[in-house]
Amino acid sequence: MFRAFLIFVCLFSFTKGQSVIVVDEECLNYTVYPVQYELSIYPYIYADHSYYDCELIITVIANAPNVNVIDLDAKDLEIQGESIKVFDGPNNIVNGPRPFEYNDLTSKLRIYLKEPLKMYSKGNRQLYNIKIMFRKFVKEDDSGIFLVKYYDEQSKEYKYLLQTRLSPNKAKYFFPCFENPKFEAVFKFRVFILKDMKDLQYTNTSIVIAEELLTHSIKDGYTIIEYMASPQVGLHQVGFHYSVFANTQLQAKHTNDTIILWAPIDELHDYKFIHNFGITIIDLIHEYAKDDRALVQGPINLITVPDLISGYEIGSWNLLTNGAYRIVNIAQFTSIKQLEAMTFELAQHLSRIWLGNPGEIERTRWKEEWFKEGMATYLAYHFLTQYNYGNPLPEMRPLTVYGLQMKHKAMAVDWHKSTPALETFNRSLAIEIPARYKDLVMMKTGAILWMLENWVESEKFHKSIMNYMKSRRGKYVSLEDFTTTLDHDTIECFHQFFNGSTASRILGSWFRRRGYPVINVQVLRDRTPNSVQLKQRQFSFTLDNREVTDFLIPISYVVQNNQDCYNCYKPRFTIGAQTYTFSENLKDGWIIVNRQGTGYYRVNYDPVTWTLIAKSLIENNAIIDELNRAQIVNDVFALYVAGDMNMDLAMDVLEYLEKERSPAVWAAAAAGYELLSTEGANCNMSKQVYWEWESFMRKKVIPMYSQLIKSKDNQWLTRLFRKNVLDLACSLNYEHCHSHVRRIYVEDRRGKHNLFPDCRMSYFFVLGNETFSNTYSRELNPIEEYDKMIADKKIRERLRFIGRIPMGEPRPLPIVMSSTTEQTSTEEVTEEQQTDGALSLKYSSMVLLITIIINYLSLR
Ligand SMILES: *[C@@H]1O[C@H](CO)[C@@H](O)[C@H](O)[C@H]1NC(C)=O
Ligand SMILES: *[C@@H]1O[C@H](CO)[C@@H](O)[C@H](O)[C@H]1NC(C)=O
Ligand SMILES: *[C@@H]1O[C@H](CO)[C@@H](O)[C@H](O)[C@H]1NC(C)=O
Ligand SMILES: *[C@@H]1O[C@H](CO)[C@@H](O)[C@H](O)[C@H]1NC(C)=O
Ligand SMILES: *[C@@H]1O[C@H](CO)[C@@H](O)[C@H](O)[C@H]1NC(C)=O
Ligand SMILES: *[C@@H]1O[C@H](CO)[C@@H](O)[C@H](O)[C@H]1NC(C)=O
Ligand SMILES: *[C@@H]1O[C@H](CO)[C@@H](O)[C@H](O)[C@H]1NC(C)=O
Repeated sequence: MFRAFLIFVCLFSFTKGQSVIVVDEECLNYTVYPVQYELSIYPYIYADHSYYDCELIITVIANAPNVNVIDLDAKDLEIQGESIKVFDGPNNIVNGPRPFEYNDLTSKLRIYLKEPLKMYSKGNRQLYNIKIMFRKFVKEDDSGIFLVKYYDEQSKEYKYLLQTRLSPNKAKYFFPCFENPKFEAVFKFRVFILKDMKDLQYTNTSIVIAEELLTHSIKDGYTIIEYMASPQVGLHQVGFHYSVFANTQLQAKHTNDTIILWAPIDELHDYKFIHNFGITIIDLIHEYAKDDRALVQGPINLITVPDLISGYEIGSWNLLTNGAYRIVNIAQFTSIKQLEAMTFELAQHLSRIWLGNPGEIERTRWKEEWFKEGMATYLAYHFLTQYNYGNPLPEMRPLTVYGLQMKHKAMAVDWHKSTPALETFNRSLAIEIPARYKDLVMMKTGAILWMLENWVESEKFHKSIMNYMKSRRGKYVSLEDFTTTLDHDTIECFHQFFNGSTASRILGSWFRRRGYPVINVQVLRDRTPNSVQLKQRQFSFTLDNREVTDFLIPISYVVQNNQDCYNCYKPRFTIGAQTYTFSENLKDGWIIVNRQGTGYYRVNYDPVTWTLIAKSLIENNAIIDELNRAQIVNDVFALYVAGDMNMDLAMDVLEYLEKERSPAVWAAAAAGYELLSTEGANCNMSKQVYWEWESFMRKKVIPMYSQLIKSKDNQWLTRLFRKNVLDLACSLNYEHCHSHVRRIYVEDRRGKHNLFPDCRMSYFFVLGNETFSNTYSRELNPIEEYDKMIADKKIRERLRFIGRIPMGEPRPLPIVMSSTTEQTSTEEVTEEQQTDGALSLKYSSMVLLITIIINYLSLR
């Protein structure tokens, strides 16, 4: 009965006096429920003691009988005791002798009543108003609401601003409230601005989460700005900004969507890039959605806060704040990696807004917010693909390189046995997902959607998403509902699946289980046609946690020698727990499973197949697709680290890297190389072996490195490629790279060019390696500081890892180094491979083959 009543309460929306269904489930077990907050804020900014006074009126209803006490959350606020009143109509019902208790330690404000609240019901629509006045002193390092000090170029003096960041649970520092992220209420703001007062900073910009209604002046020199009532939002979605910022506006092509960018007037141009980017993404979203429905009502305010704020607030939709250093673009300081990061961050946030936000005319809500986060990530990469580094494409192109990047990011964190399955996040709000799992949730969900896209075909997949979002505007979106619809939309593929697996069953199997599988491919070459066996188990870098799994894996493959390979073009079957066998005539060539690396799994082959792949890579790597090469390179590192592949074979496959010229493959190689320092991995890493890898990779990276640092090309993609390869080369302790970044640094200080930002990370890395000179010629700005922080962390982690592993023995010199052993092994090969015509191989691949075969034989 209690629950039934609560549902009624939640159904009632107070926005415009009429009932609107807002929450159709899960009502909350609270005795008092806030309906509206009305805040009148009087801010005063002084250099030494900024504060604001606030008159707060909270309209509440009682959710239970006999409520005698109202518990509010409040922290670091100076509450005026005598101002606390609870009005039942005109009557104040606060208990006279014992009105309230405020404990700043437990951050509770408890108001005692002299008579119990009447429970809210259909027949008794009783509202109460809680009135509280308080003062809040705001300092620079405060939580929730804080003061930001910055140097203003125009006035040549320091200025201050007030900014809130209320997620996840910091609203109580801003005003007394019911701090529960699931409570939603309407917010009405009124800001009283006092101008022209001695020592008081002139301030003219006040922004909250609702649009301005009217401005008027009253006596005593105050200007009042009244704002419209906000939509119903949780506390973490509220925001307030108060400064002397100026703005510029851009409007979208197809709708009235506008982004207003706020910054100190002399710095506006430094944000032109992010501003234009944002509006381009909004245009892309409208083109994708094929409609002219505005993303939000009113403008989107993008505020550049000159402070170390990291990222947008997940729940924000019209008041986006981010650290200025994260969105500024100054050629002299901003590196290409930072541009990449800022474009992704904003594209992701605008995708979140498109998927559902409180500012929609009809609000779309997601039951599983983790799924929304993953979808926003996936869409962000989709839009970045269309943005194409500032040269938007004429027509839609599917994800490629970004997909792989997403997958490798997810896989790097998704293997430990303590990693949760995605489904365990269930109904958690996005703000409740622990920071350590953010990447997992965003990247893994995105990577799985990418796998699905490739499986049901890009166009169909996107059409389905678009239609789905359209049909669910103003309603609930749930994972179950989404997959059911997807099944329906993609039903014509049905006959293509061997056993009728549908999109929903496949997705389900990946969301329910933690981690990801490795598929072992065994080709039985002694039959015609050849028989290929696939078997999956959990992938793990350690020895435990390797049980057989039953992921439904959409399998796709390519083969080397069969132009008539029917299944290569219709690669549509899924495997479960049992070994799966199929026939394919490989004609002594390789088979590569996981076409274009789109599947969220790794693949290990039998040694003969690996050898054939290695041979093709060396002879002509272009016959294997770029994305597959990237996949293979990353898998080889991972399989080696997991102890599933021996070092010689791994190096043999990677041998060809010196000829590799693809940015995607080098990115995958750099990510793979990082895996070598996985703690506790089954490859039993020792210092000697680590150094051997370092020297091996150094040799491989030099040709690409030399080519790139000569080029003065400043295109986005080239810069990115150069930076990635340079970072890798420097972290491999390549002497030339170290002296190169030093030289660039010196040239940069003489003002010669702007190449330094892309080298900066490596420069810090190189500096950090030398304990004696840990200095920089001047104080770092936040853009540089950010790179330094990352470089320092990397150095610390590496030192710790190297410190922990044993010295180990140097490995015996490889057989290929001595001519006598080479002689004997050639004989072995001749015997083994006569029928294959191996004798006609070129010298290098011959040697390679020999080593691999010897390894293979010794394994047996
Ligand atoms: C709901 O509230 C009542 C009374 O405050 C409490 O006894 C009960 O445990 C609560 N139930 C839940 C599910 O929180
Ligand atoms: C606020 O004042 C600053 C400094 O005078 C000015 O540059 C800026 O444009 C003003 N902002 C607004 C919104 O009027
Ligand atoms: C944009 O706003 C104007 C005026 O507010 C309105 O007349 C027009 O219909 C809007 N256009 C779109 C595409 O929403
Ligand atoms: C998710 O939460 C809902 C309600 O909170 C519950 O009914 C459901 O069983 C949960 N699902 C999982 C997989 O935990
Ligand atoms: C069919 O699906 C089941 C899971 O329901 C799986 O175990 C099995 O291996 C699949 N078979 C084929 C041929 O894909
Ligand atoms: C690592 O060492 C363990 C225990 O000594 C051993 O069982 C395992 O096979 C070794 N792994 C490799 C790849 O050599
Ligand atoms: C520091 O650099 C030198 C070569 O310049 C290298 O031998 C050494 O291993 C590096 N130290 C670390 C911790 O990377």
